[in-house]
Amino acid sequence: MASSSLLLPILSLFLCYFLSLAPVNVEAQGNRRSLISSLVSEKLYNSIFLHKDDSVCPANNFYTYSSFIQSTRRFPKFGCTGSLCTRKREIAAFLAQISHETTGGWATAPDGPYSWGLCFKEEISPQSIYCDADSTEWPCVTGKSYHGRGPIQLSWNYNYGPAGNALGFNGLGNPEIVSNNSAIAFKTALWFWMTEQKPKPSCHDVMIGRYKATAADIEANRTAGFGLVTNIINGGLECGRPNDNRVNDRIGYFQRYAKLFNVDTGPNLDCANQKSF
Ligand SMILES: *[C@@H]1O[C@H](CO)[C@@H](O)[C@H](O)[C@H]1NC(C)=O
Ligand SMILES: *[C@@H]1O[C@H](CO)[C@@H](O)[C@H](O)[C@H]1NC(C)=O
Repeated sequence: MASSSLLLPILSLFLCYFLSLAPVNVEAQGNRRSLISSLVSEKLYNSIFLHKDDSVCPANNFYTYSSFIQSTRRFPKFGCTGSLCTRKREIAAFLAQISHETTGGWATAPDGPYSWGLCFKEEISPQSIYCDADSTEWPCVTGKSYHGRGPIQLSWNYNYGPAGNALGFNGLGNPEIVSNNSAIAFKTALWFWMTEQKPKPSCHDVMIGRYKATAADIEANRTAGFGLVTNIINGGLECGRPNDNRVNDRIGYFQRYAKLFNVDTGPNLDCANQKSF
């Protein structure tokens, strides 16, 4: 009995590894709600985010399981493209990246540093209002601040504007809603994840194997993997430098979550040798 219960996870990791090398592009069929929740049960969600509702976490009781599931219905391809392993790996990567962005963990934190995702919903002491005046398509509204909010810590007017347009809220005039409405908060994170912002590919396309590196990408070592997703999110500050502790925190979260999803992490975890976009 003991040996067969050990063998099963090992076997499925092995299978995942080989299947991840095969190009698959099968759209999962059927009821979306049950699909995502069949891969991320409420129990799994709670075992991933062990401390999100602790009173020390400013976001306590904000990032509910039902808001997460509800937000995924707006993006039917998220976690639903490719093989079962690909789908699990994409979800684990997404949850890892939002965990780093909202982490309340530290090296000696209870249950380890990677059990403290979704602790924050708003950037603490922002250094600026994150207004890029050159972005004339998305002009800042006087008195508003476009600092980090929500699971992906959406920042800058040029992200709030298009995210609001795509999701049906006033991103430039009412950026605060991203830290006041948890379904909208999760949707902004999924919007960022699913949307290609040239010259960057989408995080989704990278994690499902649809990303095609150009000659310039190959020259810059931008090959597919979790490290490339980190590069898309914050490569200008974190990639192309050895042993960056922010990059390592993202990887630590991903390794823990991949284990909980019983899937391998895939290649190129790091972006230390990648040029940013
Ligand atoms: C919305 O969020 C802001 C901070 O971004 C907060 O000051 C305000 O009280 C919140 N409003 C509601 C209705 O929760
Ligand atoms: C690509 O990676 C190799 C091996 O790590 C490294 O020597 C090279 O400098 C990298 N190229 C760029 C453009 O960073």
